[in-house]
Amino acid sequence: MSQLFSPLQLGGLTLSNRIAVSPMCQYSAQDGLFSTWHLQHLSSLAMSGAALVMIEATNVSADGRICEGCTGLWSDEHGRSLADVLTGARKAAGNISFGIQIGHAGRKGPTQIPWQGGKPLTPDQAWTAVAPSPIPLAEGWPTPKEMTLADIAQFKRDCVDATRRALAAGVQVIELHAAHGYLIHQFMSPLTNYRSDQYGGSRENRMRLPLEVIAELRAIVPRTHALGARITATDWMPDGIQEADCAVFARELEALGTDYVCVTSGGLILTAPIKIAPGYQVAFAAAVKKVVTKMAVRCVGLIAEPLQAEQVIGSGQADQIAMARAFLDDPRWGWHAAEKLGVKIDLPPQYARAHHSLWPGAKLVRP
Ligand SMILES: Cc1cc2nc3c(=O)[nH]c(=O)nc-3n(C[C@H](O)[C@H](O)[C@H](O)COP(=O)(O)O)c2cc1C
Repeated sequence: MSQLFSPLQLGGLTLSNRIAVSPMCQYSAQDGLFSTWHLQHLSSLAMSGAALVMIEATNVSADGRICEGCTGLWSDEHGRSLADVLTGARKAAGNISFGIQIGHAGRKGPTQIPWQGGKPLTPDQAWTAVAPSPIPLAEGWPTPKEMTLADIAQFKRDCVDATRRALAAGVQVIELHAAHGYLIHQFMSPLTNYRSDQYGGSRENRMRLPLEVIAELRAIVPRTHALGARITATDWMPDGIQEADCAVFARELEALGTDYVCVTSGGLILTAPIKIAPGYQVAFAAAVKKVVTKMAVRCVGLIAEPLQAEQVIGSGQADQIAMARAFLDDPRWGWHAAEKLGVKIDLPPQYARAHHSLWPGAKLVRP
């Protein structure tokens, strides 16, 4: 009996397995609008065998983008572009849940699109970045503007508006991006937050913004859906966020009724010495699982082998696995994992007719 292919209750959703496609920026939006690229990308992933597809980090305001190609939800037109894409992608495959990550890049934008160089842009080339404190990401990056209390209040309203639009577009899972060095993570880490008001200083103050946002989102995300957050286990820096901070944050999120956390790390300091290896963040998820009771815990990071994923779930280290690169490399990863683990899953009838077991006289050997 595969544990990876067993059902998972995520908030009000019952997912048919524990595989999620991790959110992945496509840098293919025009003025923040979802495009035909997103339609084909998400339609393809809807037939990946994963029960949940998380849509890329989508920004709550235009100045919250990493670059021009990032998606946004700062107007109703943006919401409609997402609704169109989801309607199309759902036609491709029935039994799929879509979630979205909402976020703000803070001092990690604006940049060129990665494949156009990814270099930082100055305010006259794009927009002025905002952050909890005026500390540039690295040498050669512009200094962000320190957010005022009014800016923070606006950011919270933007998160609520973006979430309402995502829900209206048919998204079933809302995930607050509190990791990878983006705005909320910048508030949470002592390395990037030098504020002296109620949003800086103590850990309690640094956690205030994400907890306030989650409380507001909990009030509008229906219990039939799921609300989660992507959180940081460690900054991989001596004076940054540590696993003990992550445990406290996870418990606070749980107390507010958050349905799940996805545990990741790094991204705040470009030179941080991250120890990357297969499954390198599983232990972080397992540590969070030990301190929460109701909330589901998702893990991510160089999990690409079906047996490895099965072992993580089977050993109880996490409730759900997210994978990013493996799904771009093989958009049918879930089908192939099921086969490897001896699990029978339903394929769309249009494709089931072409299954390799039906090829006369030919044998498919997967690498
Ligand atoms: C092309 C690409 C885009 C990504 N965009 C996002 C994103 O929008 N939000 C996010 O939290 N992580 C993003 N990530 C990180 C992944 O979600 C994931 O956490 C990371 O790649 C580790 O998982 P993997 O080893 O399975 O790829 C991105 C990764 C890739 C490769």
